Amino acid sequence: MLFFIWRFIRPMNIFIVDDRFAWPVNTSSIPAVLGNLSAKECATCHQEFYNEWQTTIHSKAWTEPYFQTDWKFDRSQHSCRLCHTPLDRQQPEIVLGYRDTDKWDPIVEDNPDFDPKLQHEGVTCAACHYRDGKIVGVIGNTNAPHPTKKLDDPNQVCVRCHIVEGDKWDTFFRFPPCGTVAEIESSRSQATTNNKLANRTGLSAEHLVSDSSLFGCVECHMPLKKRSLVKDGVIRDTRQHLWRGGHDPAMVKSALTIKFYEDDLIDKIPSSKGKRLFTLTIVNTGAAHYVPTGTPDRHLTIQLRVLDKNNNVLIENINTIKRTVMWRPFIVDLKDTRLQRGKPRNYQIDISEENKAVSVEAVVRYHLLDEKRRKRIGYKNETPIAYDVFRQKIELQMK
Ligand code: HEC
Ligand code: HEC
Ligand code: HEC
Ligand code: HEC
Ligand code: HEC
Repeated sequence: MLFFIWRFIRPMNIFIVDDRFAWPVNTSSIPAVLGNLSAKECATCHQEFYNEWQTTIHSKAWTEPYFQTDWKFDRSQHSCRLCHTPLDRQQPEIVLGYRDTDKWDPIVEDNPDFDPKLQHEGVTCAACHYRDGKIVGVIGNTNAPHPTKKLDDPNQVCVRCHIVEGDKWDTFFRFPPCGTVAEIESSRSQATTNNKLANRTGLSAEHLVSDSSLFGCVECHMPLKKRSLVKDGVIRDTRQHLWRGGHDPAMVKSALTIKFYEDDLIDKIPSSKGKRLFTLTIVNTGAAHYVPTGTPDRHLTIQLRVLDKNNNVLIENINTIKRTVMWRPFIVDLKDTRLQRGKPRNYQIDISEENKAVSVEAVVRYHLLDEKRRKRIGYKNETPIAYDVFRQKIELQMK
């Protein structure tokens, strides 16, 4: 009994602080040309890359109001800094070690090199590009004024933060929390994945890094562009630093193929005489991972409704595309209705002719989080937390 009470009140650490990100990036040997490592320093030579980065959520990974509210609600834990502000000098404290094996309880002391301006840059240039006094990149033979190190596969960069493992004794996930990479692996190869799912994730950090070229994150999230790296430099194949995702309606629309139509199949079923059937088909055709991916708060709603001549709703049918997790007393994946790549899903509504219906409408909306959660954490959003990705009305002239 006591055990169960404890399971309900204990703090909930939903993932393992893996060695991949448990230690901040060490910046003790910055070459002079990189100044204080700020994105503004890089901008003096790489202006276009800076302009792009500034439009992204990476540059706001610390300051963004939703993150700040959620972080404070979640007891302002240190572990969150490790990905949202990964450089040592972005963090007010130095991590000396951890008291517990899950690494949620760090031993810290004040950091004399703490730079609050750099902290506000969140996932700044150096978070992805700076390692051991060098700038990592995929080109390798440039005349850069800073030391460089060649990276074989650009996707290796994403692995540090976009994989979270949850493989603990009390956790029964099909995918780890924020399981973008595991979702890609699972969609790519159902057969090998079944083995992997058997031991929950079965993905060690090494395994993931060696296979990272298959992830394709960079191909989809950093579109190609021919241009020079610096003003008047050599023209090369470069990648735009855009990383669009759930905050960008156009990107979400590009993931989905949606059709809303009257289904004539119903004519062939005698018992359905006098009824009309409307179907919405939705397919994830644009994302290798599930849609939505990332934090389990993200979801889609599909509303199908029948309207009268004054646009009053006569019948409504609402479905949610979401990952549902039970958090207490154990962490268990209850249900996952998200869209796997290439697998169409149908939603239907039927009406009979004698009612006052004049049209049927379908609305698909993307939600960054739901209203209940927004209220619970006290997040006062200035931008909408949900938006339409599809809306279509079919007028019903009687047949
Ligand atoms: C004083 C100018 C200058 C500064 C400051 C500077 N760079 Fe560079 N960087 C260059 C030049 C020049 C090149 C090579 C361009 C070429 O050959 O096309 C380069 C190359 C690169 C490359 C490509 C390396 C490869 O092999 O793929 C990356 C990545 C890069 N810089 C990132 C950064 C980052 C991040 C910062 C800030 C922390 C930064 N640079 C600061 C001038 C600068
Ligand atoms: C240092 C950690 C870190 C690295 C490395 C990293 N990311 Fe992120 N990424 C984040 C964080 C943190 C967020 C969420 C920021 C927020 O919403 O507050 C994020 C958000 C995103 C988003 C979501 C945008 C949206 O609108 O929701 C995309 C897409 C993304 N990253 C792609 C990538 C890709 C591709 C790479 C590799 C080239 C990468 N990231 C590397 C930490 C990282
Ligand atoms: C989330 C990780 C991430 C962040 C943050 C980031 N970059 Fe990059 N950057 C990459 C990756 C990955 C590549 C390699 C793309 C490729 O395959 O060519 C790259 C490539 C580059 C290149 C070489 C041209 C190219 O496309 O290969 C330059 C220059 C560069 N970045 C500058 C910057 C600057 C300046 C900033 C900050 C304003 C920055 N980057 C922030 C991930 C990042
Ligand atoms: C085939 C293209 C494709 C590949 C490969 C891909 N993505 Fe995406 N990604 C998308 C599209 C399209 C969206 C917008 C739909 C959405 O938000 O779910 C998206 C959304 C996201 C988001 C937004 C989170 C959210 O809940 O909306 C993140 C984070 C992300 N991707 C990370 C990654 C990472 C990390 C990788 C590599 C491990 C990757 N993606 C590989 C196309 C791709
Ligand atoms: C392993 C790296 C990592 C750690 C540790 C981490 N995050 Fe994140 N966080 C991310 C990435 C990557 C994203 C964006 C993609 C996604 O949704 O999975 C993100 C997104 C978020 C978002 C959504 C922001 C938005 O605009 O939609 C919130 C809120 C958030 N994190 C809060 C936290 C809190 C609170 C903690 C500490 C308990 C934490 N994160 C720890 C990597 C991390």
